[in-house]
Amino acid sequence: MRKPLIAGNWKMNLDKHSGCELASKLANNTRNITNRDILICPGFPLLSDIAGSIQGSRVLLGAQNMYHQKKGAYTGEVSADMILSVGCTHVILGHSDRRHVFKEPDTEINKKALFALENGLKPILCVGELLEQKEKQQTEQVVKTQVVEGLKNVSPESIGEVIIAYEPVWAIGTGKTATPEDADGVQSLIRNLVSELYESSVADGMVILYGGSVKPDNIDGLMAKENVDGVLVGGASLKADSFTRIVKYEA
Ligand code: PGA
Repeated sequence: MRKPLIAGNWKMNLDKHSGCELASKLANNTRNITNRDILICPGFPLLSDIAGSIQGSRVLLGAQNMYHQKKGAYTGEVSADMILSVGCTHVILGHSDRRHVFKEPDTEINKKALFALENGLKPILCVGELLEQKEKQQTEQVVKTQVVEGLKNVSPESIGEVIIAYEPVWAIGTGKTATPEDADGVQSLIRNLVSELYESSVADGMVILYGGSVKPDNIDGLMAKENVDGVLVGGASLKADSFTRIVKYEA
């Protein structure tokens, strides 16, 4: 049985005050929910304070990125130890903003995934095709390459900690959501691929998220699908009401 995960990616939004206010409201609104995991991923400078706002609640804390070295002369980067020390359990890796704005290649994302696992963080590996790739029917190939490259050298012992998020780039922040059927189709393909790379029990147990314009009015349809084990939410995770409704989906 896979435990659903509802994750919020705040991206470069909110500040200490508004972030703590939102986190406290979410902590309060979700107190009685035990059958699904709830995660928020604020910007780095907010993590420590937000950890305080959600203390004792059901809300988990994640970072939006991380570097793949322990420490040293990497100005502007953030280490696994740093985010662990402020209470993070998860880290988003290979988000489309990182891939396309900051030009992070699969090799770099893979190093980060391996480093996160070595350090006891659960990586959320994001994959997804661009609009032009979708139009050229390249979705399957693109997603396959990103999954295979992203998971390179991930051992059978640690693969159980990995979460994959399918986020078609054309659906992120655009208001265009993949249909529940399309999301389910690509996510079933990812599950089959994981089964080929590892074992079917690994694939059966893997939490695979959908992301891209998830909102209160489309969450129930998405979560009703067999291969949608949760969602990664951007814009709609920035308001307590909308994120709470998404967390409280009915499928
Ligand atoms: P969105 O972002 O929900 O605003 O489309 C999703 C994401 O980038 O993770």
